[in-house]
Amino acid sequence: MAPPEDGTEFTEEVKAAEAEKKPISTIVFVIAMQSEALPLVNRFQLTEDPDSLFPKGCPWVRYHGTYEDLHINLIWPGKDPVWGVDNVGTISASLVTYASIQALKPDLIVNAGTCGGFKAKGACIRDVFLVSEVAFHDRRIPIPVFDQYGVGARRTCSTPNLLQKLNLKSGKLSTGDSLDMSPQDEASIIANDATIKDMEGAAVAYAAGLFSVPTIFVKAVTDLVDGDKPTTEEFIENLGAVTAALDQTLANIMDFISGKCLSEL
Ligand code: ADE
Repeated sequence: MAPPEDGTEFTEEVKAAEAEKKPISTIVFVIAMQSEALPLVNRFQLTEDPDSLFPKGCPWVRYHGTYEDLHINLIWPGKDPVWGVDNVGTISASLVTYASIQALKPDLIVNAGTCGGFKAKGACIRDVFLVSEVAFHDRRIPIPVFDQYGVGARRTCSTPNLLQKLNLKSGKLSTGDSLDMSPQDEASIIANDATIKDMEGAAVAYAAGLFSVPTIFVKAVTDLVDGDKPTTEEFIENLGAVTAALDQTLANIMDFISGKCLSEL
């Protein structure tokens, strides 16, 4: 489509409508833990970028490669330079999402990873969810309007065909910076009507939303928050099997996406 003849720029709405009709080309996966990322790196034979796209000093790692017509980028926020553990949580998630959008201009972001599930809302261990809505549960600001800003609820990119074809579960995701759940978090999670909880989703959605980059959230359940086992124990016990289930689902999603445009998802 040619730009308007009067020299004006296309509006963001027109650009978004045009993007909806073009085949998806560049995908950015944002994945917080190395153990969640490596199965996908191996499956698609992604290679680590020797000249990091990111500013010097950032521990963030980009793996990339191609699959059919898709340019795949997998961004893992790396390890904390002091503690040597994965940079999980909202701060790194929003930073890498921002930096990846600036550097790679993706057509689609996929935030994938593990999550806790609520059996009272129908979640089971190893379920893989395609998220319908995200919100925060640990940003309580009890002042009018700031309260809603803190919760930051937003709908995700609608992908009805993907949901149906892959027969995934759909549910709302609540995000906070703790693996455990305080009584205040629990009240907020219930208010968010969430079926699953994680530590990154709503932060990725925030950064992607600044630039209107369509984003989907694929989350696999390692532990039942309202179950009988301690969260940490159940998380560690199930991590291997659940990341394998996540990897298989992500591969199916790539097959579905390949050759399609956003409006077909
Ligand atoms: N990731 C896996 N399990 C989780 C939980 N219970 N809470 C937050 N993030 C998680």
